[in-house]
Amino acid sequence: MKEFFTLAEIDEVADVVRSYTKRKPKIGLILGSGLGNLAESVIEADEIPYEKLPYWKLSTVQGHSGKLVIGELEGKEVIVMKGRTHYYEGYSMQEITLPVRVMQRLGVEILIVTNAAGAINPDYAPGDVMFISDHISMIGMTGNNPLRGPNLDELGPRFPDMSQAYDRVLLDKAKKVADQNQIKTFSGVYCALSGPSYESPADLRFLKTIGADAVGMSTVPEVIIARHGGTRVLGISGISNKANLDGSTITTHDEVVEAGIVLVPKLTTIIKGFLATL
Ligand code: HPA
Repeated sequence: MKEFFTLAEIDEVADVVRSYTKRKPKIGLILGSGLGNLAESVIEADEIPYEKLPYWKLSTVQGHSGKLVIGELEGKEVIVMKGRTHYYEGYSMQEITLPVRVMQRLGVEILIVTNAAGAINPDYAPGDVMFISDHISMIGMTGNNPLRGPNLDELGPRFPDMSQAYDRVLLDKAKKVADQNQIKTFSGVYCALSGPSYESPADLRFLKTIGADAVGMSTVPEVIIARHGGTRVLGISGISNKANLDGSTITTHDEVVEAGIVLVPKLTTIIKGFLATL
């Protein structure tokens, strides 16, 4: 496991990506659990299997295949991560966020990050879409912040601000697109835990008390790295299951993958419409 990357190592990965594509995307997309099929909408794509990229880790999780897809979506050049890695897979925080660093070095200015999440907010149901308005970095608060270690001053400050991690202008644009397409959406707070065990009912009641609307095992480390480097972020959670605050139901990975079937068309419409506004 590699803990810290130098700028030279990040650039080494970026150079390999450039050797596969002439495109210079300014928009990056990370597709979460069960949402990988969104990559099928990308046209004239150059594809790079993750194993071709130095230092780049492979996802071991069902529902997360691993390749970079660089092509066009709604006439905009995009670089899409079909599948991501998670901290619970045993990788370091820096390893799981390396792709965001590489995107930044390739010139990405806007990152659209998606995930599957459990609903803590009782108004949300499986198949709903939640725009992330803010996050609780439970995983970072307890010491696992992806910025721990030497600061790469060329990329961003030692103590980056997180007051508006999720860009309000981008969120408004995406919300308008959803409204125009009669897709019901919510805006809420995403809480990131390490997983891989799902939360206990007591965990969930605690998370509700501290203001979390949805809970998952990803996204926040990537967003912290994005913001450190000045990348603007649009975050979208696909609600895959109702969190089990009273212990009366169980949560399974199958339902998370299953919800992707309903969510992919909605997210495709929102993301395509959003890209058209840029
Ligand atoms: N908890 C944590 N992570 C998740 C969940 C959940 O209920 N659903 C999808 N990812």
